[in-house]
Amino acid sequence: MRTYRRDLDRIEEDGLTRRLQIRAGMLEFSSNDYLGLANHPLLKEASIRAIEMYGSSVAASRLMSGNICLHEELETRLARLTGMESALLFGSGYLANTGLLSSITSRDDLVFTDRLNHASLVDGVRLSRACAFRYRHCDMDHLEHFLANRTCKGNRFIVTDSLFSMDGDIAPLRKLEQLSMRYDCSLIVDEAHAIGIFGNGSGICSEYGVKPHAVIGTLSKALGSYGGFVAGSVELVKYLISRARTFIYSTGLPPAAPAAALKALDIIESQPDSGRKLLKKAADFRSMIELSGFATAPSESQIIPVQTGEIHRATSLSAFLKRNGISAVAIRPPTVPSGTARIRLSVTLMHSEEDLRHTADILNFMTGGQ
Ligand SMILES: Cc1ncc(COP(=O)(O)O)c(C=O)c1O
Repeated sequence: MRTYRRDLDRIEEDGLTRRLQIRAGMLEFSSNDYLGLANHPLLKEASIRAIEMYGSSVAASRLMSGNICLHEELETRLARLTGMESALLFGSGYLANTGLLSSITSRDDLVFTDRLNHASLVDGVRLSRACAFRYRHCDMDHLEHFLANRTCKGNRFIVTDSLFSMDGDIAPLRKLEQLSMRYDCSLIVDEAHAIGIFGNGSGICSEYGVKPHAVIGTLSKALGSYGGFVAGSVELVKYLISRARTFIYSTGLPPAAPAAALKALDIIESQPDSGRKLLKKAADFRSMIELSGFATAPSESQIIPVQTGEIHRATSLSAFLKRNGISAVAIRPPTVPSGTARIRLSVTLMHSEEDLRHTADILNFMTGGQ
């Protein structure tokens, strides 16, 4: 019979045990509620109204009896937001990525993927058994070397996060678009951390004028709700409805989720400056942290890695912050490459200037202000 003791001991010895903790009224730096919408009264009200109208669950896949107007209204809005023809909701961003990639790629295809892409993109390609080439993070020469030398019977895809979730840096999307055209590839971009913030809320592709084959987003970060989506051509969305297993064989989003996301889009559209305000706040915070001797490169966004390198330095820094009332989780391999442990701070619009100054002071105290 399968037992776990030996594996658990090894995980513990490597300092890689993961533990759940109940959120406990601390100054929070691990939340992706970037615009502070998850507790917004208008989102709560919209969710409650949706529950009263449709119930707490749609209790079936959307292809059975689980499709409601709120799903379709949100899909129309998300397509408009991202500048794509059409969009399709999934149960989460993870399910959107795995559903998309496992259905549009096959074992005859090649997928060129950034080494720091989110796990859900990696898993989607694994499910299709397409051959994956992982190019060095944002290294366009390395990618081009692969593109020029690897051919296949099927289709070729370039897959990237737009804003990298653990480093807070931005992919060279214009160059990626050029390469995808030059080498006849379909470009797939995951905008999970950028939607709602960059490009007046529409994401980095839209801000840069880049038109990928498909954009993936989540409702669970800046939009303060839950769920994920793929945006692309009408044909792509039709194809996914018939082929994406994580869409077909899974219950539709509960009514409260699309209702809250629709309200979040109203708020974002009426306050297009929110993202810029957040990015300015984050830039100021990065400067404060760097004064304490910690590196925050290559962050250029609201996601700020405080680099420690070794695992135990990351865990002890996280524990030190916790003793000082600050919640910031240590990020360790395999979530990040070996030797690059860090704590990941995400700045939100709910952080006051005093919160940020106080946190920088604590980090400064930790290093003795080197
Ligand atoms: C880049 C990226 N894509 C996708 C996801 C998955 O999104 P969700 O949390 O909605 O499953 C995440 C989640 O952290 C992410 O960082």
